[in-house]
Amino acid sequence: MAAEIDWLFYLVYWISVVIFVGVMAAMIYFAIRYRRKSESFIPPVVHESKYLEAAMIVVPLCLSMVVFTLGFQSYLKLSIAPPSSYVIEAVGSQWKWDFTYPNGKQVTGELHVPEGRPVQMKMSSMDVLHSFFIPQFRVKQDVLPNRYSSVWFQATRPDTFEVFCTEYCGTSHSGMLATVIVHPADEFEQWLDAGDDRPLDAQGASLFQANACGSCHSVDGSRIIGPTMKGLFGSERQFADGTTATADEEYLRSAIVASALQIVEGYPNVMPATYSTLRPDDVTKIIEYIKTIQ
Ligand code: CUA
Repeated sequence: MAAEIDWLFYLVYWISVVIFVGVMAAMIYFAIRYRRKSESFIPPVVHESKYLEAAMIVVPLCLSMVVFTLGFQSYLKLSIAPPSSYVIEAVGSQWKWDFTYPNGKQVTGELHVPEGRPVQMKMSSMDVLHSFFIPQFRVKQDVLPNRYSSVWFQATRPDTFEVFCTEYCGTSHSGMLATVIVHPADEFEQWLDAGDDRPLDAQGASLFQANACGSCHSVDGSRIIGPTMKGLFGSERQFADGTTATADEEYLRSAIVASALQIVEGYPNVMPATYSTLRPDDVTKIIEYIKTIQ
């Protein structure tokens, strides 16, 4: 749809340029041509022209109807996915995108799609309003809790593109990103059937990024919104209620899925409850990754 939307955009743009330049040129010309030439000069009385007035109504009306008709046609095309579309479910939550494929495969933060085939996103939210936006495809659609919304696109070449959230949804809204990865059709089938055979900590590092953990937790020791992950595993934790614990796997699991239970001294209790819905094997992978950040 990008080519069609751009064409329409530039049509409106160039019509606006022509009108703007015309109005400015006429204004400058009239300002000079009909300026007051002397103190005693009294201009003749001018009556309006009925034809000119009519033209000022009819011409803009025609222009706006042309733009409306073309725009509405494109809007309909964008709104209704072709029946042959490949359907991928998307769930937005603070602050990640989860994608589920027809065979049950689930991926966070990466949207793998086949080239040259219409793809329909069936989307909902687990918490607040989000908005699914792929600028290069010119598609954008709000994602709401307790409701499905839909958007479709057809990728024309194997490449990667960015997904943004464009509805302000809290602290890490700007970190709520994903990547569209377009595969040639046969490679897509291979990808769909393949598991991830990287080591757990490498998978965990991808999940750490896909779940936007890094927008609140640094990995280099610096303090942002939450405690840093650097040197966390094995360290002694001091909690706001005066208790302490050693950061072992059990503590890390609880700190991810039930963060409000033990709040680290000096930090606000702001980690969203969304992370309690992470899959247990994903939590394990993220913990394995955290253990490597020393
Ligand atoms: Cu989700 Cu902004």
